[in-house]
Order: sequence, then structure tokens, then C-alpha cells
Amino acid sequence: MASGNSREITTSQVGIHDKLDDLVKKYQVSENKRPISEHTQAAFDEVSAWLDAGNGFNGEIILDSCCGVGESTANIARANPDARVIGIDKSALRVDKHEHYSAQQDNYRVIRADVNDFWRLVKQSNWNVTQHFLLYPNPYPKKTQVQKRWHASAAMVDLMAITPNIEVRSNWLIYLMEFAQAAKNYGMVSDLSEVTGDNHMTPFERKYRGSGQSCWKLNCRSEES
Ligand SMILES: C[S@@+](CC[C@H](N)C(=O)[O-])C[C@H]1O[C@@H](n2cnc3c(N)ncnc32)[C@H](O)[C@@H]1O
Repeated sequence: MASGNSREITTSQVGIHDKLDDLVKKYQVSENKRPISEHTQAAFDEVSAWLDAGNGFNGEIILDSCCGVGESTANIARANPDARVIGIDKSALRVDKHEHYSAQQDNYRVIRADVNDFWRLVKQSNWNVTQHFLLYPNPYPKKTQVQKRWHASAAMVDLMAITPNIEVRSNWLIYLMEFAQAAKNYGMVSDLSEVTGDNHMTPFERKYRGSGQSCWKLNCRSEES
């Protein structure tokens, strides 16, 4: 029996948005001139100092973007003890709740930053990012909101440049179908599957599946790999 009461996505959009390819192509050839916000620059500098501490960290870095309270960040860090994991969310309220999950794990940080700017800073850095999680990003399901979805926004160029190894999860299948199509423009291939099992990776996943909704995951990789 369903234990939650999360509402299903309602939208008039029944398939991949008809403007998606045009938007992706437009941003692929335009320069993002948006100034980097001070708080995101400061968060980036702080986490860079953490990576540089000691003799500097040369190993694998995993990003967990839009991590909310960072529960997934802590889980990913536990599963990848040799990597450094960085959870990023713009909401101070959510990030500040993180302590709750910290336990004894020291190979990760959860920071407050805007990924629009953070992704650009990572792209310009020499970080060895080997995996990128984007778990339950806000879906913006209204047809008119298409440009707010990451894959149809200016930030997609930076997201695609960081690593081709990306996992996106959503309870809105169309979001992931669109993401796959947008990523194809960047030479990526993707596998789409349903999330199964009882180990919920994030609070939103727990909420949606507890309400009887299906959740989906998209795994992207480079066409050449
Ligand atoms: C639906 S919640 C999912 C949170 C978490 N991944 C989970 O599954 O429990 C979406 C999250 O994206 C974050 N977010 C939205 N826009 C963002 C941005 N520009 N930069 C960083 N985080 C953002 C929100 O603050 C929110 O915590």
C-alpha cells in the first residue's frame, strides 16, 4: 500500500517538447555571459581548498547536483570511499539540514551554491570529475517552462562539458526522454530504466515511490566509450 501522498506530475505536455532541439542547438553555439555569483564563487573556492589540502587530491571527484539535504551525497560517498564527493544545492535551508546525515564519513562536502555558476567554474577547473548525479531536479512540467529544465537551458553546455558519465533521476518520464535527446546533441548515448528496490537514494525518491509513483533513471555516457 502507498505510504505517501505526493501528487503525480500534471502537464499538458504529452511528449518531447517540439522546441527542444532548437533550444539545445541555440545554447550550444552561444556564450554564457551571466556573471558568477559571489556566494557560488566563495563556495567553489572553499571546496577547492578542501580538495587541495595536504598534497592536493588527484583522485576521482563525483558531483551530486541539486542534492537537497545531501542524503544521496552521503550515500554516494560511502559507496565510493576513494573518491571525493561534492553535493551542491542552492537552498541554504536544505543544505543546513545536512549535519543530520554526516556520520563519520569525511570524503564529501555538501555546499550551498547555484549550479548555473558552479558548473561553469568546474568546467574551467582541472577537476577529474568521473561521475555526475542529478537526482530529481525540479521538472518544470508546464509546456511554457521548458527553458527552466536543465537540458533546455543555457547551463546544459557546462553540464555536458564536465563529464559524460551522468545519472539523472525523475518521476516524470518525459523529462528524462528530453534529457536523453538533448544529450545526444553532445555525442552522448543514454539508457533509461525504472528505479526498483527498497533502497531509496534520496528523500524525494522515497516520497514519490512511497506514494505509488514510478521513478526513472537515465544513465548517459559518451558515444565513444
Ligand atoms: C526536487 S528537489 C530534489 C532534491 C534531492 N535531489 C532529492 O531528490 O531529494 C530539487 C532541488 O534542486 C535544487 N535546485 C534548484 N535549482 C538549483 C540551482 N540553480 N542550483 C542548485 N540547486 C538547485 C533545489 O533547491 C532543490 O533542493
